Amino acid sequence: MAQLQITRFGGVEVLQLANQELTAPAPGEVLLDVFYAAVNPVDAKTRAGLGWAAAQHKDDLPWTPGFDVCGLVQAVGSGVTDFAVGQRVCGMVFRGGAYASQLLAVADDLLPVPEVIYSEQAAALPLAGLTAWQGLFEHGQLQAGETVLISAAAGGVGHIAVQLAKQAGAKVIASASASNHAFLRELGADQVVDYHDSDAMAALNGQLDLVFDLVGFDSGLSALTLLKAGGRQVTVPTVTAPQIKEAAATQGKTALGMMVHPDRAALATLLEKCAAGDLQVHISNVYPLSEGANAHLAIESGRTRGKLLLNPRN
Ligand SMILES: NC(=O)c1ccc[n+]([C@@H]2O[C@H](COP(=O)([O-])OP(=O)(O)OC[C@H]3O[C@@H](n4cnc5c(N)ncnc54)[C@H](OP(=O)(O)O)[C@@H]3O)[C@@H](O)[C@H]2O)c1
Repeated sequence: MAQLQITRFGGVEVLQLANQELTAPAPGEVLLDVFYAAVNPVDAKTRAGLGWAAAQHKDDLPWTPGFDVCGLVQAVGSGVTDFAVGQRVCGMVFRGGAYASQLLAVADDLLPVPEVIYSEQAAALPLAGLTAWQGLFEHGQLQAGETVLISAAAGGVGHIAVQLAKQAGAKVIASASASNHAFLRELGADQVVDYHDSDAMAALNGQLDLVFDLVGFDSGLSALTLLKAGGRQVTVPTVTAPQIKEAAATQGKTALGMMVHPDRAALATLLEKCAAGDLQVHISNVYPLSEGANAHLAIESGRTRGKLLLNPRN
C-alpha cells in the first residue's frame, strides 16, 4: 500500500511517498481501503514537529499523518463484531495514518457511513465536526437564545459550528474575511463580521454570551474583551489557551481550552444530520496523495474554506 510518511520533522518536503505491506488486523482492528483522508491543521503542525502529536511520535518515526478517514472494510480482526467486509466506514483515528491507500484502524474509532452520504463528506466530518460539537455544547454549554461569536467561521471547524449553533437556537455571529460572508450567510449565520475591521469587531462589545475562538493568539485575547459580563470563551488552538485563560480570569470571565476527543454518539448524530441534509460539509479541494505537500501548504496558509481532502487512489 502507498502512504505519505515523515521520517523527520520539518517543512512540506519531509512528506515522502513510501510503500509498505500491512499485517493482518490485530484483535479489535479493521483493515480499510482508504477512499479519502481529511487534511487538518494538526497534520501540518505535527509534520513541523509542533504540538502533542509530534511529542507523541518523535521517538517512533516514520509516522504517517491523517486523523480522519472514510474507507471500505477489507478485513476485520478477532473480536470485531460491529463491522463486516465490504462495509463503508468513517471515523477519527487517533493514531493517525490515514494518508495512505490502506489503514489498520481501531474498530471502536469507526462508524458505518449512511448510504446517502458521499465518502468525501464522511472523511471530512469527524475531527472538525466533533471539535465543533464538543466546543459549542460540551465545553461552551451553548443555550438557545444566546449569542455566539464564531471566529475562523469559514474554516473546517467553523463552517460546521455555524450550522450547529444556528440549529441549537443561538444567534450566530460569524467572523471571516469579506469574501466568505455570502458563504456563511447561506450556512445560517445571522450576522457576519470582517475581523480585519476593528470598528466592526468593537461594535460587538457586550453582546456575546459565548465566543468559540478558533484562532487563539491576539485574536483570542481581543475576543475576550467583547464578552458580556459573565460570558465564556472556548479557545481551541492549544498553544495560546493558557495565556487566554489567564487573561480571562483577570477580566472576571471564563475561558476554557479543549482537546477534541473520540465520541461515537456525537459522530453518529453528526452523520445523521448530514444524511438528513441538515449539515453541509464543504470540501474546497481534493488532492492526490502525491500532492500532499501542496495540501499542507494550503492548510498552512490559514485561508482555506471548509475542508481539504487527500485521495490516495488517485
Ligand atoms: N484543540 C483541538 O482539539 C483542535 C481541534 C481542531 C482544530 N484545532 C485548531 O483550531 C484551529 C481551527 O481549525 P480549522 O480546521 O477550522 O482551521 P482552518 O480550516 O485552517 O481555518 C481556516 C480559516 O481560518 C480563518 N483565519 C485565519 N486567520 C485568521 C485570523 N487571524 N482571524 C480570524 N480568522 C482567521 C480563515 O478565515 P478567512 O479566510 O475568512 O480570512 C479561514 O477560513 C486550528 O488552529 C486548529 O489546529 C484544535
